Amino acid sequence: RLPVVLDVDTGVDDACAVLLAAMHPDLDLRAVSCVGGNAGVDDVVRNTLTVLDAAGRPDVPVARGAERPLLEPARDARHVHGQDGMGDLDWPRSTREPDGRHAVELLCDVLLEASTRPDEQKITLVPMAPLTNIALLLRMWPQAAAGLREIVFMGGAAHVGNATASAEFNVWHDPEAAAVVLEAAAELGVPVTMYGLDVFYDVRVTAGEAATLRSADPGGPGDLAGRLIAFQCERFGTPDATIGDAGAVCAVLDRAGLRTERLPVRVELAGTWSRGRTIVDRRDWSGDLAHDPHGQAPTSVDVALHVEAERYARLWLDTVGGRR
Ligand code: BDR
Ligand code: CA
Repeated sequence: RLPVVLDVDTGVDDACAVLLAAMHPDLDLRAVSCVGGNAGVDDVVRNTLTVLDAAGRPDVPVARGAERPLLEPARDARHVHGQDGMGDLDWPRSTREPDGRHAVELLCDVLLEASTRPDEQKITLVPMAPLTNIALLLRMWPQAAAGLREIVFMGGAAHVGNATASAEFNVWHDPEAAAVVLEAAAELGVPVTMYGLDVFYDVRVTAGEAATLRSADPGGPGDLAGRLIAFQCERFGTPDATIGDAGAVCAVLDRAGLRTERLPVRVELAGTWSRGRTIVDRRDWSGDLAHDPHGQAPTSVDVALHVEAERYARLWLDTVGGRR
């Protein structure tokens, strides 16, 4: 089984991702680190514990991480994800305590332990939230990168944004952290895949499929999964909804369903209207470096540009519906 660690701001679609990672038989979910983003970090921790309880995985350590971005104030997305950050569902909240360590310490411990193992047992890290915890980790304990196989993060976009016309929410929320992570990963030799907005909204589940999940598994993880989709359909008045962050976990399980291109990526840290945008250089010539006024090489990232959406939706439905 492939060892994975998630970094989340649960989050309706983070919840979809946690269910998939916790339930898929090919994944070994070692830990979940929490960061403020869609909601405040305490709600994020409570939501994450609740999802893992529903998945029957109270064994997975969950830790509380950064409350706010490195530089910006916290700016939540409760207008999208509900007051509690997870759809204000009528669902029993976990009463468990999180791990006593700070999330960055938990990440460090898990990665250092993995660093002594053979390559195939190293960790795939899947951040699907502002990258604050991961930036702190790679700056405080760069040696922990030896335990990483790769980073597959949800964030950024080659084309349009969502938090602003230019910028995707996770990168926009903490642009400095995203810049640190891209730079540190390149320095430390960690491969990075960007599962951004170019594919994020494509993997969708219908309200009818959500209703089937619910009725087949009352009170179980399928029921919770169905409610998460139904919440989004109702909120946006659409017949279907994205599984969102869960697509990044699908990419770990089924890389062949994703078309990526290795491209130079930078994070815009200035800009009047473009702060937090990922600048993906898609020019078919390589003159950029010579003309870069800062003399800084961009990071090469495998940027997701197309997804086999039905294949990923099926993978998610089958897993959270208990058919795997
Ligand atoms: C990202 O922002 C959050 O609202 C979602 O959970 C996802 O991680 C999409 O831009
Ligand atoms: Ca998220």
